[in-house]
Amino acid sequence: MTKATKKSGTRTAKPKLAQTNQAWGGRFTEKTDAFVETFTASVEFDQRMYQQDITGSRAHANMLAKIGVLSSKDLSAIYQGLDQIEQEISSGKFKWSHAREDLHMNIEARLTEIIGDAGKRLHTGRSRNDQVATDIRLYLRDQIDIIVQQIVHLQSGLLDVAEREADTILPGFTHLQVAQPVTFGHHLLAWFEMLVRDATRLQDCRARLNQCPLGAAALAGTTYPIDRKMTATELGFVAPTANSLDSVSDRDFAIEFCAAAAILITHLSRMSEELIIWSSAQFDYIDLPDRFCTGSSIMPQKKNPDVPELVRGKTGRVNGNLISLLTLMKAQPLAYNKDNQEDKEPLFDTIDTVQGCLRAFGDMIPALRCKPDKMYASAQQGFSTATDLADYLVRKGLAFRDAHEVVGRAVAYGIETRKDLSEMSLAELQKFSGKISADVTKALTLEGSVSARNHIGGTAPKQVRAAVKRARKKLSLS
Ligand code: ARG
Repeated sequence: MTKATKKSGTRTAKPKLAQTNQAWGGRFTEKTDAFVETFTASVEFDQRMYQQDITGSRAHANMLAKIGVLSSKDLSAIYQGLDQIEQEISSGKFKWSHAREDLHMNIEARLTEIIGDAGKRLHTGRSRNDQVATDIRLYLRDQIDIIVQQIVHLQSGLLDVAEREADTILPGFTHLQVAQPVTFGHHLLAWFEMLVRDATRLQDCRARLNQCPLGAAALAGTTYPIDRKMTATELGFVAPTANSLDSVSDRDFAIEFCAAAAILITHLSRMSEELIIWSSAQFDYIDLPDRFCTGSSIMPQKKNPDVPELVRGKTGRVNGNLISLLTLMKAQPLAYNKDNQEDKEPLFDTIDTVQGCLRAFGDMIPALRCKPDKMYASAQQGFSTATDLADYLVRKGLAFRDAHEVVGRAVAYGIETRKDLSEMSLAELQKFSGKISADVTKALTLEGSVSARNHIGGTAPKQVRAAVKRARKKLSLS
């Protein structure tokens, strides 16, 4: 006999079950190390899924009763016990214990304390592996619904401001250099479109996660004649998951959600960046309400755009959470591994962060005030109607490349004489091309420039109003 087997052979004499974990202590001879107990526990952070855990347990118990594995007496005791536990948790009276490791075992142990042996029968045909996979899906499903609602709220605020500012002109930029005039309403509608994609991405993720892992048990399924369709339906899932190994090990839905959240917060970050630039003294296009800003403890004049800055900053942690989950999953063999317990904190942090950012944005956007005079004056600089002059010359018969060259020379003259194209006299303009006549004025005004872009997706005030109308219709449909 080797040393090792000798050692294990002596084990049977040792165990003192009362000193080991009640739920799985049967084969253990030593109490869990005090640090390891805390190190391996997830109860601090998984307790937020208590409602989903209890709902899942009710559905599982119902199904066990229906197939005759649980008596109706046990079922009603389980129901009564779970009701009491739900009450204890929601009123803050429940005593969470590290020794009971996680949410699931805390609830099960308390259930047994309250109702006795019937509590021990609830886990028949189930494992924490399919239980936790079910809980996370249920929890995430609810949170996605909240986030989509928040996006819709923000979108409807954007539409209100876009409609109000359909005629307001500001410079459109490329390379952060003045490019062409656009309307502020049009700019806000660009933000709206980003959010349309975010909301639909999240809905896609929700649709894919909406399958029920319950019944996969530890990994291989169970020997009881379970009715997986029954639990799936009771929990609002469209179907049971197809493969037990995949059911307990899959965390794609968490990764997918975090990816969609990373894109969403990237959008919010880009919006933040513009709000920050626009509220600087150098741009001075907008005024963020004081309640979304803070001051400086040393510089009395400061009003800092803290909310957009913080949203931009929080993009880092949301992107980081996505990478955490991808890395968590990349080397895991089938099926469940304890690594998976690490899925919750990045996921929950992403949910909290995105919900916080959307809440701040949803309140801030409708309160945004723009400064149309400043925007207009800024759009008059930087030769923003140069393309309009080129298009004008094309309409007069010049090839676009030649027109481009002509206008380029006019711009060089403007830089030298510090004059915008609209400030040049007709005679000055005609020096660059004989095709220019008095009707050029309209092409060179900012109003003429924006209203000429009068097609679907264009910046003309008329198009902005039509787009707002279409968008409102779309929102009420979703
Ligand atoms: N707390 C665990 C988790 O979050 C639950 C599943 C534990 N399963 C197990 N066999 N250790 O993943």
